[in-house]
Amino acid sequence: MAEKILVIDFGGQYNQLIARRVREKRVYAEVVSYKTPIKEIAAMKPTGIIFTGGPKSVYLDDSPRMSGEIFNLGVPILGICYGAQFLVYGLGGEIGAAGADSAAEFGRTDCSFDVKSPLFKGLKDESVVWMSHNDYIKKLPSGFKAVAHSAKCPYAAIENAEKKFYGTQFHPEVNHTEQGFDMLGNFLYNVCGCKGEWTMSGYAETAVKSLRKKIGNGKALLALSGGVDSSVACKLLAKAIGNQLTCIFVDHGLMRKNEGDEVEAAFKDSGVNFIRVNAGERFLSRLSGVTDPEEKRAIIGDEFIKVFEAEAKKLGAVDFLVQGTIYPDVIESGAGDAAVIKSHHNVGGLPDHVDFKEIVEPLRMLFKDEVRRLGKELGLSEELVWRQPFPGPGLAIRIIGEITPEKVALLQEADAIFREEIAAAGLDREISQYFAVLTDMRSVGVMGDMRTYDYTLALRGVSTTDFMTADFSRIPYDVLERASTRIVNEVGNINRVVYDITSKPPSTIEWE
Ligand code: XMP
Repeated sequence: MAEKILVIDFGGQYNQLIARRVREKRVYAEVVSYKTPIKEIAAMKPTGIIFTGGPKSVYLDDSPRMSGEIFNLGVPILGICYGAQFLVYGLGGEIGAAGADSAAEFGRTDCSFDVKSPLFKGLKDESVVWMSHNDYIKKLPSGFKAVAHSAKCPYAAIENAEKKFYGTQFHPEVNHTEQGFDMLGNFLYNVCGCKGEWTMSGYAETAVKSLRKKIGNGKALLALSGGVDSSVACKLLAKAIGNQLTCIFVDHGLMRKNEGDEVEAAFKDSGVNFIRVNAGERFLSRLSGVTDPEEKRAIIGDEFIKVFEAEAKKLGAVDFLVQGTIYPDVIESGAGDAAVIKSHHNVGGLPDHVDFKEIVEPLRMLFKDEVRRLGKELGLSEELVWRQPFPGPGLAIRIIGEITPEKVALLQEADAIFREEIAAAGLDREISQYFAVLTDMRSVGVMGDMRTYDYTLALRGVSTTDFMTADFSRIPYDVLERASTRIVNEVGNINRVVYDITSKPPSTIEWE
């Protein structure tokens, strides 16, 4: 039986990150809700269980809880933060509420470990951990002992070695916890007895099998944008169901310069059914006069689906709509209790009445760098694997304010120049995402002794691994200078170029 860790989601921010860290340790992990019935959890035959953090206090009536039967499955458990408190509470210990004398801790905290515990074996006995809690473990259930402490927190980590139950008040999954990745590894290897046999090729095989099972003899449509996510989804589906798959590339007229033709060239003869729909006019006319970013996304999402429905009708019965949604899209669109930051059009913008039996999202649990690794595994060309990400709504969310065909053309030219210069400087793989944004601001300039009053163009470059957080790229001034000079000289109506030096957070990568 293949090793599998179930990450039980209690509503914390880092739930997928935990699963991802486990996968990085070569053990398969998936996230399930705390509402999943215990019978289903048992049927999944987990090798280990991790309880995530969560925003609530365990003693509140509406706090997420699961049946105590979870403790009788004979499966090792690691509880993290709220998860540790739930473990303690569920087994008869006591949790203290935040208050004047509470042991609330936030941020970097020095912590000492009992390195005899399997959880901390081979680690330094003191290092920094990342704490983020109001409540605290006050009294341990029987059979438990403390295996780590901080100045304020006597039970920073706890263990019941016999039952293989562990809890950490801190977050081992975040980078700020210095030895956190090793602690997770220790839980997997020393406590759960994992062998670490999971690989991306194994994942590809499992995904292909489960897609085959799900789709059967049905027909599927894939929204192909030519970006890495939908291209990887295409490869995966092509492997699973071959010519039952039709790929539809909706050219919404908001692609980068020449991109529509490039996508067509890359997929037309690749062995899958490929259809290009030129719908630029439709999209632009519906977007006319719209300035609100969320409204733009909703319109594009809606129009997108309408185009698909029309194509689906032409093809006859189509059961499944495949989308290349990846995990950051899901979380930022407000998965579970997380707040909505942007409703990415391929998630939040879906209308309620979709004429398909089901939507399939085979990459929903993966981060961008995992998708790239999967792409390589599936034999996708280097060019496509490394194609920089491009948002579904395209240039619509890179033109601030109203969208007009003239502005689209302007931005396409400026963006192409910026990309050329980045590539010429050999920085195109180093920078995770780079692009131009046409602001709706005009300013005064002087060209050839004449006053100009033209648009300001912003350039953006970020480095990131997971697109959840990002740092602005330190692009050398001479590269920026060449791009700026060329843009102002070669593209009309732009007389000022600025470079965005904010990180995410507090900004996001796109401007809208
Ligand atoms: P943000 O701007 O949220 O971007 O920091 C994170 C990543 O997501 C892309 N992005 C989108 N992708 N539909 C998409 O398919 C969208 O509406 C959308 N908005 C942002 C963005 O380009 C970056 O890679």
